[in-house]
Amino acid sequence: MSLDDFDRYPLMFGPSPVHRLERLTRHLGGAQIWAKREDCNSGLAFGGNKTRKLEYIVPDAIAKGADTLVSIGGYQSNHTRQVAAVAARLGMKARLVQERWVDWPDVVNDKVGNILLSRIMGADVRLDPSGFGIGIKDSWETALEEVRAAGGVPYGIPAGASEHPLGGLGFAHWAAEVAQQEQELGVFFDTIVVCTVTGSTHAGMIAGFAGQDRPRRVLGIDASATIDPTREQVARIARHTADLVGLGRDLRDDEITVLEGWAGDRYGIPVASTIDAIRLTAQLEGMIIDPVYEGKSMAGLIDLVRAGEIAPDSTVLYAHLGGQPALNAYAGAFG
Ligand SMILES: Cc1ncc(COP(=O)(O)O)c(C=O)c1O
Repeated sequence: MSLDDFDRYPLMFGPSPVHRLERLTRHLGGAQIWAKREDCNSGLAFGGNKTRKLEYIVPDAIAKGADTLVSIGGYQSNHTRQVAAVAARLGMKARLVQERWVDWPDVVNDKVGNILLSRIMGADVRLDPSGFGIGIKDSWETALEEVRAAGGVPYGIPAGASEHPLGGLGFAHWAAEVAQQEQELGVFFDTIVVCTVTGSTHAGMIAGFAGQDRPRRVLGIDASATIDPTREQVARIARHTADLVGLGRDLRDDEITVLEGWAGDRYGIPVASTIDAIRLTAQLEGMIIDPVYEGKSMAGLIDLVRAGEIAPDSTVLYAHLGGQPALNAYAGAFG
């Protein structure tokens, strides 16, 4: 079995763009920094990492005769917004459980940004007061039941598509895409920096790169301040995905790196380094990142380059995983 044996339903424009971040590189004065842009990978509601994951999940939903994609996330979930877009694209319905994952005081938190886009795309959006959690939730089981009771055929996609058995394949494919782009550009990215929360983005990359056997580090940056369960989840999904794509060996523990230190105390709450990273990236590159995920992973990249933990002769690829619509709910953080 290899990755090519799995069906992929194309949802993206093609390979996501890769480009240099020249002014950020000069400003930090160390490693060469590039970005690969999942935020502009498709024409589906501003794209993002879930669009890529869903390419491998949609064929299963179609094969099972589903008419409703059911999923779950926080009020400002990027994932549920991408599920709503994919449902629209496929002519299916979307039933979304939006939980109160973040105690964020902005009065428009459950009205603007991602949740607004999902509503515009016709998703059945239901608010739920439950808190943050990356596992399987009762509210999600209930949503599946309700769709069934109403005569629909639901297809469940867990938070971040991570607990889905095929959830890691999209980013195993990303790793293959990177290798191809490296050839075309004549460059080798020895370090990848990626934001990690529900885990299958990072895990898929690990499984994909493991098959290339080149000296490359994939550094996951924890953005939810739940380091032990996150490490465990990344390791589990990476090993499962490696099995699926027929890696033919066990992943070593040193291939699975999740770094802590930039999440602050809680998922969804930006800290000073997050806001500084967002402003710096915007002002040097015109590249917009968000306060929940990418602002935290960029803060990690900045510190690691400044400290020389990513060496000055390194070439780094920053995985921009999308997420900008949430900025609308965080206006207060920017004064
Ligand atoms: C913009 C953005 N960045 C990073 C992540 C983290 O990816 P994952 O949940 O696969 O760890 C997510 C989703 O959770 C996201 O929406």
